[in-house]
Amino acid sequence: MHDIRNVLELARKSGVAVAHFNVADLVLLKAVFSSAQELQVPVLVGASEGEREFMGVRQIAAVVRSLREEFDFPIFLNADHTHTLGKAIEAAKAGFDTVVFDASALSFDENARQTKKAVEALKAINPTILVEGEIGNIGTGSEIHQFAPDLSNYLTTPAEARQFVEFTGVDVLAPAVGNMHGMSQKMVEGENKKRLDIERIAQIKTAARVPLTLHGGSGTDDEDLRQAISAGISIVHINTELRVAWRRGLESGLSAQPNQVVPYKILPFPVMEVKLVACARLRLFNGVTQLPVEDECAVAPRAREEQGVS
Ligand code: G3H
Ligand code: ZN
Repeated sequence: MHDIRNVLELARKSGVAVAHFNVADLVLLKAVFSSAQELQVPVLVGASEGEREFMGVRQIAAVVRSLREEFDFPIFLNADHTHTLGKAIEAAKAGFDTVVFDASALSFDENARQTKKAVEALKAINPTILVEGEIGNIGTGSEIHQFAPDLSNYLTTPAEARQFVEFTGVDVLAPAVGNMHGMSQKMVEGENKKRLDIERIAQIKTAARVPLTLHGGSGTDDEDLRQAISAGISIVHINTELRVAWRRGLESGLSAQPNQVVPYKILPFPVMEVKLVACARLRLFNGVTQLPVEDECAVAPRAREEQGVS
């Protein structure tokens, strides 16, 4: 029986973090699941309100559950950035393992009040569900932004973190520590990286005493991510990097076969591109350095070359 709470505890003890990858279709899910399987590390799949609407709330829950059961594998499902109690309840009833209740656009007090109410309502539906709350401002939109906004005035303080956790009873906290949703074009091109406030993460971890999630992980400096995990981050969210890879793969699949109409001959291209990103992030977050020779994650770059993807 796989349990996300145990997985998070084990991750903390081992000094690693669980990767959270957003999915909006089966291409992304296939790439994420097979990457985690290859590396034999647990994975958290996320679906935001928009992603859930596109895939179907109960449908994505059924697919993830079937992967967990058929392969006896620690894959879990998160209702990401859920802004209303109604949508949170819908996800809990569908069997999601975790819910990010995100009222961070409201004032601190109103955010705390609504989050506390959500924790109580969701635990009444499923006492084992994990509820995450979010404070501070890390921007919105897992997409390519023209410029990276300056959010330095909205960073979370350790005192706020403690107060919020104690008042609401959340199981997991998502603070603002230099992270931001989405990527600038310079980040996509690798010319710029997000940087994190590691000292602040360590202080928030001591104050909050619950697992911490880092949202907006795409485009973050690798060494900062390593240090953030050592300082107390237990879950890292990645979305935009996967979306960029998904699009790049789809474009190469279409341009390599201009007359092709068979989806399962085109879609392996985006699967492979997403897998390259997911594998690299899983390795980093889980401190995986050695790979078995037959590992598809190791083979993916070669397959990419063979398919003529530049
Ligand atoms: O909840 C989703 C994430 O926080 C993803 O952020 O698109 O910057 O990776 P990202
Ligand atoms: Zn997020």
